[in-house]
Amino acid sequence: MSYASKLYDLLTSRFYDKQMDLELVHEARRCVVSGIKVGPGARVLEVGCGSGLNQPLLIEALGETGQIVALDASIEMLNQAKVRAQEQGYADRVVFIHGDARKLDLLLRDAGEDDEFDALFLTLILTVVPDWRRVFETAYEHLKVGGRCSIMDSYWSKSSITHWLVRSLYAADSKRPTFEPLREIAAEYQVEFLPPAPQDSFFFVASGTKK
Ligand SMILES: C[S@@+](CC[C@H](N)C(=O)[O-])C[C@H]1O[C@@H](n2cnc3c(N)ncnc32)[C@H](O)[C@@H]1O
Repeated sequence: MSYASKLYDLLTSRFYDKQMDLELVHEARRCVVSGIKVGPGARVLEVGCGSGLNQPLLIEALGETGQIVALDASIEMLNQAKVRAQEQGYADRVVFIHGDARKLDLLLRDAGEDDEFDALFLTLILTVVPDWRRVFETAYEHLKVGGRCSIMDSYWSKSSITHWLVRSLYAADSKRPTFEPLREIAAEYQVEFLPPAPQDSFFFVASGTKK
């Protein structure tokens, strides 16, 4: 397991949901879910699902029959996601996988979930996971041609105290340009910034279709 997932197990999972309860983050989540544009019955792969904060929105977008395969390396975060799914009545629509995203191929195969997906969903994970470009590429290989990939993350071009704090508490390196690989390979690439005019730091929501 990575240092990041250990940090989430030991510390960050305790306050994560409260800290994420910000209007800007809610808006970013609504925006990224609207970018997946999948029909009923679709299968979505969510890498680094954390405590499952996207899942109520995703389930709504998937209609009556879609399914989520959700992976995270922190057992504490995953347990919170499972409780949320039970409480909100969609536990039978999510397959939870505990493991390191760097071993995605193996984990999906062992779970019997290695068919291609209709959508790939990565929120606040590529800034956290080690070897992020390879994790992105591997996850993208599991997407169908014509499938949608959506990424939501932060990007800060300058160092600051906040950058240091976010790095310490969330193991997130917001200086990584995590939108770049998708921009390079996807069709119909779109990006939206929150707040709208990019400043030194912002959230972005990027989406594209696999060629
Ligand atoms: C900032 S949280 C994002 C959670 C969720 N995607 C969200 O939008 O709220 C980062 C997540 O990445 C997970 N993580 C860190 N390293 C990982 C790894 N190597 N493989 C899989 N998940 C990892 C952590 O456990 C944590 O749940």
